[in-house]
Amino acid sequence: MRQILVAGNWKLNGSKESIQSLVSGINEGMSGVGDKAVAVCPPFVYIPRVADLLSGSEIGLGSQDVASEETGAFTGEVSADMLKEVGCQYAIVGHSERRSIYGERDQDTAAKFAAARAKGLTPILCVGELLEERESGDTENVVARQLDAVIELEGVAALADAVIAYEPVWAIGTGKTASPDQAQAVHAFIRAKVAELDADVASKVQILYGGSVNGGNAAELFAMEDIDGGLIGGASLTPEAFLAICTA
Ligand code: PGA
Repeated sequence: MRQILVAGNWKLNGSKESIQSLVSGINEGMSGVGDKAVAVCPPFVYIPRVADLLSGSEIGLGSQDVASEETGAFTGEVSADMLKEVGCQYAIVGHSERRSIYGERDQDTAAKFAAARAKGLTPILCVGELLEERESGDTENVVARQLDAVIELEGVAALADAVIAYEPVWAIGTGKTASPDQAQAVHAFIRAKVAELDADVASKVQILYGGSVNGGNAAELFAMEDIDGGLIGGASLTPEAFLAICTA
């Protein structure tokens, strides 16, 4: 059985004060979470602070991005070593906002995936199609292309130390969740694609769903055979909303 993972992606939100109450609120509700794993991904600058607040807690910590380079003249970047040093276990790579707003290409995401993994961070690799790609029947092609960039660079075995997050772009922050069947279909496609190369990796890799997950739809989504948890944006910003998902 794959463990369910619920990861909060705080995006560009929070302040010293708000993260303190958010983390303590989540910590207080952890007894109801059962055997799910829970993680939070704050903005870079708050990671050390959140690491302190999480000390002694079983909640995992991740970044929202990571540099593909290790060190040197790369203004604005934050390396996997730095993230590891301040307490991260996970690094989100290839979030659709990085891809669509900041022009990150499949190869850039693959390089970030490799950089994270090389330093012992678990990459959370985001894949997913735009609305027009879904409407033109290209969902599987797009997701396959995004996965292939990583598999070509790192090999399929690398996915054994990673998490995949399927996030249809049209469902992110829009309130339009993919139906459990729609999401399951793409998750099953991803797992079958990995299984063609390595059945063992495919059976173990966690595939999260992301896109307008909330306390009302999480249980149904997480009950689907190939959905192993969620990557949560908006609903990860208050303890009540996040815990409603973690305890679903
Ligand atoms: P959302 O974001 O839950 O606000 O739709 C999900 C994500 O972008 O990871």
